[in-house]
Amino acid sequence: MTKRGRFITLEGGEGVGKSTNVSFVAECLEAQGLEVVRTREPGGTVRGEAIRALLLDPAPQEPLHVDAELLLMFAARAQHLAEKILPALARGAWVVCDRFTDATFAYQGGGRGIAKERIAVLEAFVQQGLAPDLTLLLDMPKEAATKRLESRLNDRQEQRDRFEKEQGDFFQAVREAYLARAAQAPERFAVIDAQHALVDVQAQIEQTLSARVTAWC
Ligand SMILES: Nc1ncnc2c1ncn2[C@@H]1O[C@H](COP(=O)(O)OP(=O)(O)OP(=O)(O)O)[C@@H](O)[C@H]1O
Ligand SMILES: [Mg+2]
Repeated sequence: MTKRGRFITLEGGEGVGKSTNVSFVAECLEAQGLEVVRTREPGGTVRGEAIRALLLDPAPQEPLHVDAELLLMFAARAQHLAEKILPALARGAWVVCDRFTDATFAYQGGGRGIAKERIAVLEAFVQQGLAPDLTLLLDMPKEAATKRLESRLNDRQEQRDRFEKEQGDFFQAVREAYLARAAQAPERFAVIDAQHALVDVQAQIEQTLSARVTAWC
């Protein structure tokens, strides 16, 4: 029987370096000869990316109800699991995902104030016990992350999405909710100090991977 692959997620607030380091993690694993599927949330499938566009659209004409936002996140996740994540893990591929359910607890829970018990109901319904094997939480003060994000938005001439338009208190609450989740599941999380130069951040990630991946393979 094929050995199930592993599921690794990268988490953290806006601009902390998640997307940059999804590629780095994938390359580290590929260098070990593993098949790797890189993906992201919300999104990861054609229908999921359509839901992402709905979620991130900053058009102001109609506010998105917080429960609708929460349910859309899980709708995209249900599609993502069924179509991409579970089949990949079943064939022995490793999945590296830019955000997953911890982001829902941090943003819709911490940021928007939805009770975590309500989010946990949907988590159980959609995931049926599936959880990441390892979550790298990239953590840094929000002011420094905002600077990084702004320089990327300028470089690429991008507009702020609906979440990036939120104010400082929202991001502080998101950061605290992430750290609280990491403290509750230290065996699954590795908290990476993301405020340093990329080479230092990647050294921390590599150290975490070499400890865990060797133990898993
Ligand atoms: N350690 C680092 N030091 C300096 N700049 C960095 C570092 N890591 C990433 N960056 C740069 O910061 C910007 C944001 O990084 P990235 O897009 O990977 O963050 P993200 O967490 O995916 O952001 P978002 O939440 O918007 O998706 C990019 O321009 C990236 O090149
Ligand atoms: Mg990103």
